[in-house]
Amino acid sequence: MAVVTIVGAGVIGLSWARLFDEAGWEVRVTDPRPDLRELVRRELPGRPVTATADLAAAASGADFVQEAGPERIEVKEEMFAALAAHTRDDVVLASSSSSLLPSVIARGNPAAGRIVIGHPFNPPELMPLVEVVPGPRTAAGTVERALEVYRGLGKLPIRLDKEIPGFVGNRLQKVFNDQAVYLVQQGVIGVRELDDLVRASLGLRWAVTGPFESGSLGGGPAGMRHLVEHVGSQMTFETGTPDPARLGEVLDAVEEAYGTGEAAYERLADRRDERTRSVLGPLGWQGPAPRDGKTRG
Ligand SMILES: NC(=O)c1ccc[n+]([C@@H]2O[C@H](COP(=O)([O-])OP(=O)(O)OC[C@H]3O[C@@H](n4cnc5c(N)ncnc54)[C@H](O)[C@@H]3O)[C@@H](O)[C@H]2O)c1
Repeated sequence: MAVVTIVGAGVIGLSWARLFDEAGWEVRVTDPRPDLRELVRRELPGRPVTATADLAAAASGADFVQEAGPERIEVKEEMFAALAAHTRDDVVLASSSSSLLPSVIARGNPAAGRIVIGHPFNPPELMPLVEVVPGPRTAAGTVERALEVYRGLGKLPIRLDKEIPGFVGNRLQKVFNDQAVYLVQQGVIGVRELDDLVRASLGLRWAVTGPFESGSLGGGPAGMRHLVEHVGSQMTFETGTPDPARLGEVLDAVEEAYGTGEAAYERLADRRDERTRSVLGPLGWQGPAPRDGKTRG
């Protein structure tokens, strides 16, 4: 049985652990948190997952490593230095990082050729995408192996042609979210109303077509060229940028709309997962088969 070492038992690491276990891998989880064993027992009930705070021991003999530790470059550099030292030289070291460049994570690392980004979308168990981002020193074989592993988990891995901070998904998300904050700050719309507006329009549209395919359709038989020249030609307004000094007002409004704390999180995450699961199959994605009925950490 192939062995995967998951580094970090947070929201993302535990979800990776379930995915790899479902796909028939032997799973080891490593994290320095003192309650690791209890956490793994609680969140991955009945699954034969090994848990240890000893990263070197967890990595030794692994066939694939999926890192999901803190999003801080100094911690990533330290973790990848240890991973390079304690894995075979044919083992892919994939980072779940949401935005850090693989070339920076691999800086000074003797295993730079084995380091690649394998960035999932939250929750990894449900979202089909994994962005695979090579750095300039990442070996072609590393990318191929990462793509193969993620396909084996039922994911849709998409390889970027070159690295860029935030990759593609989070760059798009950043522009979109900045505009959402700006619109609320400008008093144009409330937090809940903006979410409803997106769910009822762009969210649904982008679940079935991407922005370019949708643009092509928006122009009718003449395609996106017509849309750009016709409707697009009038969209000459400035989009503006949010005021960072007034971000607190928006965060207050978000908390008022959705609450915070364990109970609110559980309720919202359950609703999100249920809705996501209900559309995965009809949209042609492979849905998960959670044995323990959970999809989250
Ligand atoms: N949360 C998201 O929406 C999301 C989505 C995609 C990717 N990511 C990326 O996944 C990674 C993990 O994010 P998260 O949200 O699960 O974070 P998290 O804070 O929930 O979990 C991080 C875990 O790493 C552990 N850790 C700390 N030092 C460690 C070490 N030296 N070795 C091993 N583990 C260590 C912590 O104890 C913690 O359990 C980050 O790189 C993040 O950018 C997050």
